[in-house]
Amino acid sequence: MRFTKISLVLLAILSLMQTQGCKHENVIVLTDCDSTQFKFSTHIQPMIDRYCAGCHTYPNASGSVELSSHTGVAFVAKNGTLMNSLTHPTNWMPKGGNRLSVCQIKQFEKWIKAGAPND
Ligand code: HEC
Repeated sequence: MRFTKISLVLLAILSLMQTQGCKHENVIVLTDCDSTQFKFSTHIQPMIDRYCAGCHTYPNASGSVELSSHTGVAFVAKNGTLMNSLTHPTNWMPKGGNRLSVCQIKQFEKWIKAGAPND
């Protein structure tokens, strides 16, 4: 009984987060992913806005990771936690959601390797 109640609360929270995560639904079409394109303004930031900003925007920045600006994203890009968070075998980001596609993760990887520029 107790377990059911907790599950229901969790479900409610998860579905709220899901709704939040979809607020930029029309920004990128998944099938359009091209791993040779990885500019911050046109590729990285729209993915962050769509998949991550719901949980990583001030004042509700989960794990103190703030991803609403280039500065915040570049910080985790350079300290290694961004790539690790996308590829982690069990606790990947977006937390509780589907892993990003191989192509999308490649775009992040290439942008980070290029020095995480604000391009
Ligand atoms: C549903 C909420 C949620 C979403 C969506 C989400 N995160 Fe997180 N993120 C968290 C929480 C909570 C933590 C704190 C650590 C934990 O609980 O795993 C975290 C931690 C992190 C960390 C720090 C990990 C470390 O090793 O210190 C990074 C980097 C990160 N997230 C990046 C992202 C990226 C990039 C996305 C989008 C692709 C994303 N997150 C989407 C909730 C979320």
